[in-house]
Amino acid sequence: MKSAALTNVGIIEMVEKAVPEINESEVLIKPMVVGICGTDIERMWHTGTWKFPTVLGHEFCGVVEKTGEKVTNVKAGDHVVVNPMVTCGVCRYCVSGHQNMCVDYDYLGSRSDGGLQEYVNVAAKNVIKIPKNMPFEKAALADPLVIGIHTLSKAEIQPGNTVCIMGAGPIGNLMIQLAKNYGAGKVIAVDLIDEKLDCAKQSGADICINAIKDDVHKVIEKETNGLMADVVIESAGAVKTVENSMLVAGKQGRVVFMGTPHSDVLINDKVFEGILRKELTVRGSWCYDYKELPFDEWQVGIDYLNIGKIKVDHLITHRFDFDNVMEAYNTVKSRDRYFNKVLIYVNEKLEK
Ligand SMILES: NC(=O)c1ccc[n+]([C@@H]2O[C@H](COP(=O)([O-])OP(=O)(O)OC[C@H]3O[C@@H](n4cnc5c(N)ncnc54)[C@H](O)[C@@H]3O)[C@@H](O)[C@H]2O)c1
Ligand SMILES: [Zn+2]
Ligand SMILES: [Zn+2]
Repeated sequence: MKSAALTNVGIIEMVEKAVPEINESEVLIKPMVVGICGTDIERMWHTGTWKFPTVLGHEFCGVVEKTGEKVTNVKAGDHVVVNPMVTCGVCRYCVSGHQNMCVDYDYLGSRSDGGLQEYVNVAAKNVIKIPKNMPFEKAALADPLVIGIHTLSKAEIQPGNTVCIMGAGPIGNLMIQLAKNYGAGKVIAVDLIDEKLDCAKQSGADICINAIKDDVHKVIEKETNGLMADVVIESAGAVKTVENSMLVAGKQGRVVFMGTPHSDVLINDKVFEGILRKELTVRGSWCYDYKELPFDEWQVGIDYLNIGKIKVDHLITHRFDFDNVMEAYNTVKSRDRYFNKVLIYVNEKLEK
């Protein structure tokens, strides 16, 4: 089978390898559509993966080719989404239902091989069945949506809250829609790129601020009559937005950090004192929680996509077929160029 292997930082090579064997508790999947995540941009162009070679692609859906003897939750021919975080199931966090804190987990697409290959073996407990009429493009966005669902569970949005989302990438845009669905009042999106903010508007943002052109603090102050934001979500992973998140949060506000900065984050004493004086709640969010089955947050995400509560069409800016994986990654190399969700069609045929 054909496999797109990351052999070094910035280098993906198409290699031929054997179709993986599956054990009694695994499922062999034909990946259909694979999304490129903000974290993949770092893996591909800066940090690499845990070892080389690794097949990237943790945001994917596909069709079950075959199942091990002990698998009962899916069967050959089922359409599925994959939760890429394969947890140990026995550590104190796994047994208490907080698998995202697992002390011994595998992650498809960074620690072991992900979806950018014609077949991939996955633990059955990480495979979730989706309706056959659900487009694979939609299903490929389940992972970033579930990240957003988990993040917003930390934000505890109350009816009418002003919510500010810093960074309108795919996850930011999904969280704008979630915040609206969860009863937020004004939703404010901040980014550096006008096209991302146009996308945020389509996602339902009421106010869009380009941080290059406008003073984020002043605009939010004016829009909230000085009260500032009740909830701020940092989904840009930039040093400036980390600082701004705490500055634009109002008294007793909640700040949730989910973006991953890749350089030192230093906050000055004034910003730090704001945490005290405003009695901010500052939280982090990591991946997703799920019970063994039926994968609570995942099932919620799939349902939202399926019933159209969350829209993804406007987020998808680029589609590439499997022979053009490198071109797909070149598209996301520069943050100066407009892209949002970039999808790679592995076994699914891309209509041109
Ligand atoms: N915590 C987790 O579990 C988890 C999981 C997945 C992704 N992530 C991280 O979440 C973040 C969002 O993911 P994504 O796929 O949407 O990423 P992305 O890189 O596509 O989007 C980030 C957005 O932030 C904007 N941005 C960058 N600097 C900015 C600044 N100074 N001010 C305003 N906007 C700025 C960018 O223009 C972009 O639109 C990334 O940092 C990613 O690494 C975290
Ligand atoms: Zn991801
Ligand atoms: Zn564990």
